[in-house]
Amino acid sequence: MAGWITPPPNEPIKTREELERERAAKVEELASSGLLKSERIRQALLKIAREDFIPRLYRDHAYLEVPLPLPGQQATISCPHSYPLFYEPLGLDAGHRFLEVGLGSGYGTAVAREVVGDEGLVVAVEIDPLTFEFAKANLERAGYDDVVLVNADGGLGHPPLQPYDRISITAACRSIPPPLTEQLAPGGKLIAPILDDGRQFLILVEKTVQGMTTKDICEVLYVSLRGKYGA
Ligand SMILES: C[S@@+](CC[C@H](N)C(=O)[O-])C[C@H]1O[C@@H](n2cnc3c(N)ncnc32)[C@H](O)[C@@H]1O
Repeated sequence: MAGWITPPPNEPIKTREELERERAAKVEELASSGLLKSERIRQALLKIAREDFIPRLYRDHAYLEVPLPLPGQQATISCPHSYPLFYEPLGLDAGHRFLEVGLGSGYGTAVAREVVGDEGLVVAVEIDPLTFEFAKANLERAGYDDVVLVNADGGLGHPPLQPYDRISITAACRSIPPPLTEQLAPGGKLIAPILDDGRQFLILVEKTVQGMTTKDICEVLYVSLRGKYGA
């Protein structure tokens, strides 16, 4: 993806133990940087083997701060820091009904599933059929058989299971697709990279009784949203 330098593919040589040590070090780094605060998110990042959500030839780079290519058109697994970057401002927590637009590798879905727990719900939508099949296989292999996976245009949300307490869009949009704000529960929060004059800013939207409030988080760089509300 433009703006990021993808490391070269290579036959994996790192052992499970090495990758586990890299995972623990990454979680400590995210916590000491102040990005990671929630104990539930911390436990999820420690538990899930991110390397199992990455194509084999990129597996050894699982804990590098770089998006890695996935099967499909322009699909990537986001950098490790992206998950606290999105889920901390959302305040993702136990019991939430969560919608993810842009399933990608399935890793963010697994993290969300751990955070919302048994009382919560995770629905994840992916537009690209190849990427969808890759994520579905990863999640099944990792034992996440209780998440709802949908191969469709996530800009339209997923009306049958609305309303959602939290929505995360992991692809850059011109503006928030209206069906997503409609499917957000009262008091709910949505996070998304929004395009502005060639740059992208991560925006947090909250649905309050007075209307929608928005807060800028930081500049980011994500693949573009496709489909009806595509960038
Ligand atoms: C940065 S990647 C997602 C990373 C993912 N959250 C993960 O943990 O691997 C963005 C994804 O959004 C998908 N996408 C783009 N437009 C979409 C749309 N309208 N609906 C659903 N998915 C879309 C892309 O195909 C890509 O897989």
